[in-house]
Amino acid sequence: MTNAASETATSRLREEHQHILEVANALAVLVRAAEEGRWDVDAFADCVTFIRLFADACHHGKEEDLLFPELEAAGMPRGHGPIAVMLQEHQQGRAFARHMAGALDGARAGDATARATLRNAAMGYVNLIRGHIQKEDHVLFEMADQTVRGPACRSLCTAYGAVCARRFEGHTKEQLQELGLRIRERALRA
Ligand SMILES: [Fe+2]
Repeated sequence: MTNAASETATSRLREEHQHILEVANALAVLVRAAEEGRWDVDAFADCVTFIRLFADACHHGKEEDLLFPELEAAGMPRGHGPIAVMLQEHQQGRAFARHMAGALDGARAGDATARATLRNAAMGYVNLIRGHIQKEDHVLFEMADQTVRGPACRSLCTAYGAVCARRFEGHTKEQLQELGLRIRERALRA
């Protein structure tokens, strides 16, 4: 957990990135196992839930509703440059998650087209999110840490805390992190 006294404008988000990357790694393992004929569609379904609720609602929600507006207020444009790229990639991630969700039932029934869709969307998501987090951690967040400091940083972190205390379709953030752990354990057995 991030220590409140040392929390920066991005430390909580960087910590969440690690959970997201671990699930992305597990998803890549599930895809590889599926390609070898070992399908665990329930684990893919858990990944979709984690992506929708933890990566998107909880994590991207804080970026889009709190961090990015703070950066815009400090003069960073929304229509082009790093924020625009990050917003566009969030949309791409949502599209991959929708394609995965839409293919789950067919994949469970053994439909080859649905399985191909699920596999392709899952790998699309994995590749996208790895590059996306790399860019955020090393470019946008570096800029944010230089820009949002002092009282602005403290109020931003308080607002992050309020989002993290919400429920996401009934799940707490902690429950979603535990779901991420279960996905990783499942991938180890894939
Ligand atoms: Fe992020």
